[in-house]
Amino acid sequence: PWRLAVLISGRGSNLKALIEACANGRIDGTIVTVVSNRPQAPGLEHARAAGIARTVVDHRSFPDRTAFDRELAAALDSSAPDLVILAGFMRVLTPEFVNRFAGRMVNIHPSLLPALRGLDTHARALAAGMPTHGASVHFVTSELDGGPVIMQARVPVCAGDTSETLAARVQLAEHRLYPAAIALICSGRIQSAGGTVLYDGQPLERPLLL
Ligand code: GAR
Repeated sequence: PWRLAVLISGRGSNLKALIEACANGRIDGTIVTVVSNRPQAPGLEHARAAGIARTVVDHRSFPDRTAFDRELAAALDSSAPDLVILAGFMRVLTPEFVNRFAGRMVNIHPSLLPALRGLDTHARALAAGMPTHGASVHFVTSELDGGPVIMQARVPVCAGDTSETLAARVQLAEHRLYPAAIALICSGRIQSAGGTVLYDGQPLERPLLL
């Protein structure tokens, strides 16, 4: 089984979905550590309940991003992960950190990338009148939300949606999307290769759709 490290900042509903997928064998992996930059992140409770080691690296205790990222890297290295999974981790990472885990770090972003990089994606999808919205799983590069996309889930934008109702619909899809994408990585079928995604050894022309 792959050794998985999950980084969170908040609620941890994606972490919970990943814990379940490892437990039921859907993912050939074991979550060896959960790291949060927020001491009060509710998601830490999911790790505790599952008996997974937890570490807090509080970004407020460090003078700058470089110092924070060094400590974060040390915390991760001590559990020797094969894959680092960002699951609602809301800190921008330095290029040094990203390079250290190049090709073995993934993120889930609440939009159909390359649309809507950055924050407040649900409100921005509504403001732009987009008919469809969704979530993307991508390998992390030093370009924010710009790494090669592995898999996406689409959801409709419905009449009367608020950013809250739309976010809830996207997050339900995320809870199926992230385990599906991680399962493919841990099966060896999906790999990162120099800025592209390989699927069964062939360059992926467009993201897989859940
Ligand atoms: C998820 O919707 C994820 O896509 C988003 O934060 C939420 C975390 O929820 N990530 C980002 O916005 C990254 N910039 P969770 O803590 O319940 O998994």
